Amino acid sequence: MTNQATVASLLLLPGDGIGPEVCAEAARVLEALREAGKFECALETALAGGASIDACGEPVSDAVLAKARAADAVLLGAVGGPKWDHLPSAQRPEKGLLRLRSELGLYANLRPAILYATLTNSSSLKSELVADMDLLIVRELTGGAYFGEPRGVENRREGRYGFNTIGYSEDEIERILRTAFTLAAKRHKRLCSVDKANVLEVSALWREVAERVGREFPEVELSHIYVDNAAMQLVRAPKQFDVLVTENMFGDILSDLAAMLTGSIGMLPSASLNADNFGMYEPVHGSAPDIAGKNIANPLAAILCLAMMMHYSFERADLASAINQAVRAALEKGARSADIARQGDTPLSTNQLGDAVLNELASLL
Ligand code: IPM
Ligand code: MG
Repeated sequence: MTNQATVASLLLLPGDGIGPEVCAEAARVLEALREAGKFECALETALAGGASIDACGEPVSDAVLAKARAADAVLLGAVGGPKWDHLPSAQRPEKGLLRLRSELGLYANLRPAILYATLTNSSSLKSELVADMDLLIVRELTGGAYFGEPRGVENRREGRYGFNTIGYSEDEIERILRTAFTLAAKRHKRLCSVDKANVLEVSALWREVAERVGREFPEVELSHIYVDNAAMQLVRAPKQFDVLVTENMFGDILSDLAAMLTGSIGMLPSASLNADNFGMYEPVHGSAPDIAGKNIANPLAAILCLAMMMHYSFERADLASAINQAVRAALEKGARSADIARQGDTPLSTNQLGDAVLNELASLL
């Protein structure tokens, strides 16, 4: 799927909360690429998360899963919201997202955290600590506590007891480490593996496998860090990192932390890839129910997801870079949604920020 004549099939799963609003802006970017004769795609929209629960009683249906499998790539907005919070965990909107990740085998979640120069003052850290920050978190996405068995809540003699399991096979560790090493080799060649090997057996195995896979990548410098220290180092001196690789739950937590260093979680895209390089692209921000439907959400993460999609799913580095540049240029001209606006800025609506990016894109295509 690399030349312009082929039609790519994309599945859009806007989901809940601000998902539909930010996906609509991404869809406008796709339309602009099509109009400019740069990228033909057939876009189909389907339900996921709470929207799907409301329509058919489950957070992702078999039919939608089949559509995702048949597509060349998927863009997912966000899932979840207070409306479905009372549901037992097996029926919640989040389960739909987890089912998609698991059944599509999307074990490698790439979460870049890049600080745009113009947003240095929006970061929660001092500008000298974050200026030019560009790190990549590689999060394992289909294992660990999210999927581990046994799990549940039981009645025991001492009362109710809740439990989960964090487990990884050697193969699962090996493949995510290989992904991370391969990516690090193309960047600054430093890979830091995050674990809790001073306490957890699963982490001891992780560390051992990381060392072994590392021998295949002598050009990449491998280091190990405990997850608590990683959290501290990320807020103390984030620029020491190039690529971080970690298990599912640690990656969930650290990627929110890294996101905030860039000014707003509303800025971060992610790619979830399987062994065949099929990808589902998800903004790192959630459904943000408090601002849903107000046309104030930041659409940049969703738009930047398209840049990742062009790069990883369609080998269109030209379009990835055009989208990235358009976002950068819009920010440089002062376009800001409320989450990244500073005192004195007039925040743009979701559509207006989309317009600003489209304006820039037009001159780059
Ligand atoms: C994320 C989200 C999800 C996760 C939720 C919505 C299940 O927080 O993509 O980081 O925990 O993976
Ligand atoms: Mg998260």
